[in-house]
Amino acid sequence: MWGKTLLSFCCFLFLLISNYDGVLTFKISDVDLEIFRDSGFEVSIPDEPGLQRVFYMFQIDDLCPALMDYITKAVNGSWVSKQKACIQNNDKVHISLLVQYNDQIYEKTETRVIINTRLLTTKNSKSRNIQFPSGDSECQAILSPQKASKKCLPSQTIVNSGRQVCQGDLIFEDNFSGMNLNRSAWKHDIRHRLYHVEEELVAFDDAPRNCFLKEGDLNIVPIMASDVTQGSFKLGDRCTAVESPEKECNIPQGSYYSIKPPVFSAQIHTRNSFSFKYGKIEVRAKLPKGDWLFPYIMLQPVSTYAETHYAKQLRIAFARGNAHLRTKQNEDISGNHLYGGMLIWNHGRAEQYLRDRLSQAHYGDDYHNYTMIWQRDKITLMVDEEIYGEIYDGLALFNEKCFIILGVTVGGFTNFNDEVLQKDVKPYKNTEPRAALSFWQNRDMWSSTWGKQSSMLVDYVRVYAD
Ligand SMILES: *[C@@H]1O[C@H](CO)[C@@H](O)[C@H](O)[C@H]1NC(C)=O
Ligand SMILES: *[C@@H]1O[C@H](CO)[C@@H](O)[C@H](O)[C@H]1NC(C)=O
Ligand SMILES: *[C@@H]1O[C@H](CO)[C@@H](O)[C@H](O)[C@H]1NC(C)=O
Ligand SMILES: *[C@@H]1O[C@H](CO)[C@@H](O)[C@H](O)[C@H]1NC(C)=O
Repeated sequence: MWGKTLLSFCCFLFLLISNYDGVLTFKISDVDLEIFRDSGFEVSIPDEPGLQRVFYMFQIDDLCPALMDYITKAVNGSWVSKQKACIQNNDKVHISLLVQYNDQIYEKTETRVIINTRLLTTKNSKSRNIQFPSGDSECQAILSPQKASKKCLPSQTIVNSGRQVCQGDLIFEDNFSGMNLNRSAWKHDIRHRLYHVEEELVAFDDAPRNCFLKEGDLNIVPIMASDVTQGSFKLGDRCTAVESPEKECNIPQGSYYSIKPPVFSAQIHTRNSFSFKYGKIEVRAKLPKGDWLFPYIMLQPVSTYAETHYAKQLRIAFARGNAHLRTKQNEDISGNHLYGGMLIWNHGRAEQYLRDRLSQAHYGDDYHNYTMIWQRDKITLMVDEEIYGEIYDGLALFNEKCFIILGVTVGGFTNFNDEVLQKDVKPYKNTEPRAALSFWQNRDMWSSTWGKQSSMLVDYVRVYAD
């Protein structure tokens, strides 16, 4: 069956090449697309005298490989291709077809977008060439009848490589078990966070003492600076800030704000090596302990940069470093309180869709397995295999591939919100122009809570297709 189909497919292509003379008089009928709940879709064009063969190619939501189907016979008055792949809301379906009509080859391409399982034709061209997806991630087409491998359940996950994946496939893994951080997978953010939106009280750098592998763990270690008050601070060419390099790369000498970062830490990401849309991410980690420390274990859309005020984040897990911290309403928001969910920045305010779980112990006391299952219509949050939250709203804002970020920061307007916290517990005020200086000058209030336990230890990161 395989061989025969392939053979006729090849003959057809040969015919295509040998017969293509570009004189187009015949017009291919509009393609009829029918979607079946949970069981794929069907496309067809009506039969008419002179039609000899039809060759379909489909690409769903830019997923690779593309699907192909070669039809040699009209059935009940139409040229039908049945496909097993499921189409869902917001999917974009490219349909290309080659038609042999009176020994001439004609072609056509259509793009449809599915909205509330209704169809919307967005583009309808008569271009001569079938657009095979190309680029550094070569996307191969497959013949659809052979596609139905029973072991591979279709997955909604999209990976940056374009590779088609099956449900449950491990699509990213780092056990951090080598000698050194895999620099092909992870890149450092190098920028300071003072004097810009959110005003975190750190500089992220790539110094080995702030970020290294040891005993199978990634260690991200915030380290207090020895002196902060004097002179300018320049990251120069090493600075990776994209959106606001003038604010995040250097601090000029002699300005009112001329205070060097009180803390050095690290933040790493997979923006350039790995991103995905929908899937299950598992991070086994020991969160940092120490006042005003804050862990970043999150996903961020590839179109946004962490330094903007408008970035969106999928927070896989966070718990504040503080051992004791309460809101004005006396709610415990110390590190005993775990959160996960979404942050969406909108004109200087963070809209938060969070779920949480309160524990007897600080989450930094031990390793925990933090899991986020990101689906088209739902986010599920788990810790140590227990579900503690589900989110249904706001997901449309994450309609693109995201990359992984791991880091440890200090402070931050939203992380430690003055409007929420009890009065005078913080050694600085968010709105204070020289918050970093106050934080440093009041270090007696917090430095004793820092120590070995202030590092974030990450055992592994795993991402599975869903
Ligand atoms: C063709 O149409 C007839 C009558 O509607 C139907 O019974 C038959 O199953 C159809 N054949 C196929 C292959 O769909
Ligand atoms: C990571 O660790 C798991 C569990 O020990 C192991 O099965 C897997 O092969 C490891 N992966 C790599 C890339 O070392
Ligand atoms: C390092 O990362 C790259 C990119 O993710 C990956 O292809 C490679 O296998 C990794 N190397 C090791 C030793 O894990
Ligand atoms: C981590 O949690 C996920 C989700 O609950 C689970 O599937 C996985 O087996 C857990 N891993 C370990 C090592 O406990």
